[in-house]
Amino acid sequence: MVKISDVRRQGDVIEEAGRILREGGLVAFPTETVYGLGANGLDGEACAAIYEAKGRPADNPLILHVANRRMVDSIAEEVTPIAEKLMAVFTPGPITLVLKKKEHVPDSITGGLHTVGIRMPDNDIARAMIRAAGVPIAAPSANTSGRPSPTTAEAVDNDIDGRVPLILDGGPCQFGVESTIVDCTGEKAVILRPGAVTMEMLEEVLGEVELDPALVGEDTVPKAPGMKYRHYAPKAPLTVLEGEPCNMAKAFRDEVGRLHGEYKQVGVIASEEVISFLEGLVPEELLVPYGQQGNLPAIAANIYEALRSFDERDVDCLLAEGTGKEELGLAIMNRLHKASGFRSIRV
Ligand code: TXA
Ligand code: MG
Repeated sequence: MVKISDVRRQGDVIEEAGRILREGGLVAFPTETVYGLGANGLDGEACAAIYEAKGRPADNPLILHVANRRMVDSIAEEVTPIAEKLMAVFTPGPITLVLKKKEHVPDSITGGLHTVGIRMPDNDIARAMIRAAGVPIAAPSANTSGRPSPTTAEAVDNDIDGRVPLILDGGPCQFGVESTIVDCTGEKAVILRPGAVTMEMLEEVLGEVELDPALVGEDTVPKAPGMKYRHYAPKAPLTVLEGEPCNMAKAFRDEVGRLHGEYKQVGVIASEEVISFLEGLVPEELLVPYGQQGNLPAIAANIYEALRSFDERDVDCLLAEGTGKEELGLAIMNRLHKASGFRSIRV
């Protein structure tokens, strides 16, 4: 693990990362969303090592990270007008565009799809590393498959230590939830995974935007293959309390009381307001605040670390406070629903 505090002055470390990648190795690196586990995206064999290190199902495609427009054109068969508009406003940034792929992009990294997800991260370390490698970098989140995504280098180290020769430590990630995946191949833009660029922001640029029906609970197969798996899961079973913010504190008290009645150790991830209401009822080390109620950027930035923080604590079950579904709340609730296997209580 190498701490990068100044990309320019640590050019030698970035060059070393580029060399490892060019030679078919793996490098974990920071982005503005979550940490990624990178390999040469045009080298099927190098990418096979990603699947192995993560224990990732082979049908789950990788997104390709690029440093500039030229790299986009080198892997996309066609950049559609929707994609042009989104790139003009949101790249570099936390958005992934799904476009028809060029022939030479290996099928093994797209899970056999004819499309490829393309993302230009807004993180100096990430872009410098991609430039140094000189090729698009395939990178999923740097967690083992099914676990919460890592938002610090330490979390990467905990999950995939020993399986990566180099981890670039760029400190905690700014957004804390992954990029928004937008299918740009059709007449209308379709959100396949809600993320750091919100639906409201997309609508402002494009007018109408659709949500993949699988995201709104309809019984269809999601178009982003990775969205069908249980994901982001902490080790203890999780239940999400969702509904009116003003009802939360009492609902938590009731549910904690009920679980204590069953002799269960309960961990709580919630707003500072709800946490302060539970002091005395739940041991302090089992209360993890994720920000102030309604502060969606703070909650997004803290949610994965909050879930991970219970890995080393002795709990039978976890309760988490849900948010609204507007703006970043759509991505936060999507992750909480998946982390809990859709176990929730309406309050
Ligand atoms: O913010 C992010 O996007 C992070 C950072 C590291 O860039 N990456 C990330 O990658 O979240 P990953 O592999 O954990 O999630 C990528 C998702 C998966 O659900 C995958 O199924 C979907 O993108 N995906 C990739 N290529 C696709 C394609 N061609 N069509 C539809 N979905 C695709
Ligand atoms: Mg992931």
